[in-house]
Amino acid sequence: MRISINIQKTENTIKTTSSPEQIRLAADKLRAGSVVAFPTETVYGLGAEISQLDAIQKIFEIKGRPRNHPLIVHFSDIAKLEHWTKEVPPAARLLAEKFWPGPLTLILSKSRHIPLDVTGGQNTVGLRIPRHPVALALLQELGPHKALAAPSANRFGRISPTTTAHVKSEFNDKLDMILDGGECEVGLESTIISCDRESVTILRPGGISVAEIEDLLKQKVNIIAQPATRVSGSLKSHYAPVTPLEICRDSQTLWHHFDALRQQDIVPAAVVYSANHNRDYMKNGYPILMPDDPIGYGKRLYATLRDLDQMNVDRILVEAPPAKPEWAAIIDRLQRASAAFPSVLYSNKT
Ligand code: TXA
Ligand code: MG
Repeated sequence: MRISINIQKTENTIKTTSSPEQIRLAADKLRAGSVVAFPTETVYGLGAEISQLDAIQKIFEIKGRPRNHPLIVHFSDIAKLEHWTKEVPPAARLLAEKFWPGPLTLILSKSRHIPLDVTGGQNTVGLRIPRHPVALALLQELGPHKALAAPSANRFGRISPTTTAHVKSEFNDKLDMILDGGECEVGLESTIISCDRESVTILRPGGISVAEIEDLLKQKVNIIAQPATRVSGSLKSHYAPVTPLEICRDSQTLWHHFDALRQQDIVPAAVVYSANHNRDYMKNGYPILMPDDPIGYGKRLYATLRDLDQMNVDRILVEAPPAKPEWAAIIDRLQRASAAFPSVLYSNKT
């Protein structure tokens, strides 16, 4: 049987090729200590049941991730939030009720049910209820007091996967099972927000805007680019394609740079989003035209960078997206991907 389920809050229909039988099999494997890749609405995750410490260790091993980098814990029932955390500050409660299930991770104090191996030794835990139907079905199948630790299903420092083909290309045959959920609806990782009694801090921008969060909480939130807590996604080299990536201020700058590189026998590829490009350049450069809205752009970004890594180019030139709040997550990921060329563009405030 095939599942095709309408996701709330979007017009998309996500087609998945995972049957209820496959979801049951995946849950059995996870209970028995296997590592299973599964879809979420953001990116694919590499899952282990949190009490299976060997499986947790295996995640760090196959990702090549340092063991002190904490994993996000995924669960399915908001009524069980107190099971996983010692304390739910009022701001966290509001955020959870508004955005779960969905692409939000809350950093809270961990309860005794979360092993320190999962949190990299920290007393806080990243918690999230995903909204992808396969992820939710898998978590429900596991049961109300079970949860899945799951980082993005990519090798450390590389681009997160948004299809099963990406997951396969990252790990070949190292995984016990990959559940298929089609192409991820959001395409960028969840917004990470740290909450305690005093303050609310965005550690990783995602699809939920600062304005939306401040409106809901009726308070200012902090945004930190380099958090004091260990957030592996905050390392500059993160989210990077293999091919060096450079952001260009605008399309004109991009095409001048494009020509200059070609004269030096460096083969560039151009990634643009605005359709009003000089036609000659369009003809010469074969640019990759991205959607000009942040939702469409975010969904395509990682797949596009992966495709470009497969092509024989020496440099990826990206037209800078608008410096607007709704583009913050895309700007964040592009800036990290362009760490080799840090000269341009945005302040941390965008
Ligand atoms: O959308 C997502 O969040 C995806 C899907 C699979 O849920 N997961 C994901 O996991 O992006 P990962 O491990 O690739 O990135 C999680 C980030 C890391 O930067 C990690 O350091 C941070 O969350 N994190 C997790 N627990 C934390 C904690 N207790 N304190 C601070 N940062 C934490
Ligand atoms: Mg990751």
